[in-house]
Formats: sequence, C-alpha cells, structure tokens
Amino acid sequence: MAIANTRSRYGTVAMTLHWLIALAVLTNICLGLYHADFIPDNAPPDMQKFAFQIIQLHKSIGLTVLVLSIARLLWRLVNPIPPLPDGMSPALRVVAHATHFLLYVLIIAIPLSGWALVSASRLGLPTPYFGIFHWPNLWFLADLPGATKHALHPTLALTHTVLAWSAIVLIPIHVLGALYHQFLRRDDVLKRMIPGTKVAEPA
Ligand code: HEM
Repeated sequence: MAIANTRSRYGTVAMTLHWLIALAVLTNICLGLYHADFIPDNAPPDMQKFAFQIIQLHKSIGLTVLVLSIARLLWRLVNPIPPLPDGMSPALRVVAHATHFLLYVLIIAIPLSGWALVSASRLGLPTPYFGIFHWPNLWFLADLPGATKHALHPTLALTHTVLAWSAIVLIPIHVLGALYHQFLRRDDVLKRMIPGTKVAEPA
C-alpha cells in the first residue's frame, strides 16, 4: 500500500494518523468524563490517588494527540486528500467539509486548552509524559502570579470542557457520515480510510 495519498485512497501515513488519533481521542474522552463525573471531590485517599493517575495518563495521551494532529495537518498540507465522490449534493459537501474542518480545529484546540489549563494551575503539578520525561508547562501561563492563575482557572477549565463536548457531538456526526457513505450510497469513502481494502480507481 502506498505511503502517500492517491486520487482514490489514503496512504499508510494518513490512515495511521487518522486511526491513532481517533483511538486516543475516544480514550481521552472516556478518561476525562470518568475523572470529572465519577470521582467525587471527597473521595477516599486511594481513589484520589487513582484519579491522579488517570489525569496524568489523560495528559500524556492528550499531548500525544496534539503532536500527532500537528503532524497530520502538515502531512495534509503537502499531500492533498482524495476528493469527495461525484454526485454528492452541494449541501452534503458543505456538511462534510465543515465537519472535517471543525474536527481538525478540535484535535488541536482540545489538547492545547488542556495544556493551558494545567500550565495555569496553582498546584504546579508536573506532567511526566508517560513517565519518560517532564513535559514543560506553557511558560507565559506558568509564570503568572498565583492570583491571576486562580482567576483564569474556571475559564480555562470551561473552555476545555466545551471543546471536548463539541467533539463528543461532532464525532458521532462524522461516524454517521461514514456509515451513510458505506451502506446507503455504497461508495468508497469509508473503505479508502481502511487499510487493506480495494477501492475503484477514478476514471
Ligand atoms: C484529545 C485530547 C483531549 C480530550 C478529548 C480531552 C477531554 C477531556 C474531557 C471530556 C474532560 C472532562 C471535562 C468535564 O466534563 O468537565 C477533560 C478534563 C481534563 N483534561 Fe482533558 N482532554 C484532552 C487533552 C488534555 C490535555 C493535553 C491535558 C493537559 C495536558 C488535559 C487536561 C485535563 C484536565 C486537567 C482535566 C480535568 C479538569 C478539571 O478537573 O476540571 N486534557 N478532558
């Protein structure tokens, strides 16, 4: 299978980045929601420790999404994607392009907002990236006075939550779109993102 995209399908680089990012984003949504909704503030020490480990894992996975998403965006700039199939209505084309654009924005903006959130935390906890090295905080936030950080925290936390919920809404729309192509239109749109599948060459 080709490394680069062709007119008819995605190459191995684009497919690998797509499925790795998808898996990491879904995992992080689950970890984030679990941390926010199932661990009470007054949880016993054992559970607090578990919550801390969950959020450290969440940070490492999220920062990986940031790196992979920047790589994906750069790859897309130098290696254009196969076009949407002929015969799609203009309205559906707009929906498809808008969904893809917003998903690109979110996979960059969600981890950036999380990074900003922990950088501006008054607790100053380190981010040991999968226990391998310490991921730095954003200096322009980490160096702010404690009172300013305290004032910023709710806005940054809300931004991270709203962006994450936008992804929770958009991802099912994206998946439904892929299933619509596969089972109703019966074209190659989903197949061209799945390794090892055969797709028709454009005329
Ligand atoms: C694709 C990447 C990411 C996704 C999908 C994601 C998703 C989420 C979600 C759904 C929540 C729960 C929000 C709520 O219901 O209040 C959350 C919380 C949180 N996230 Fe992320 N996140 C990502 C990346 C990051 C990164 C890179 C960091 C930091 C380096 C981070 C730090 C946090 C923290 C500290 C919380 C807890 C906030 C609080 O306790 O109020 N996240 N995230």
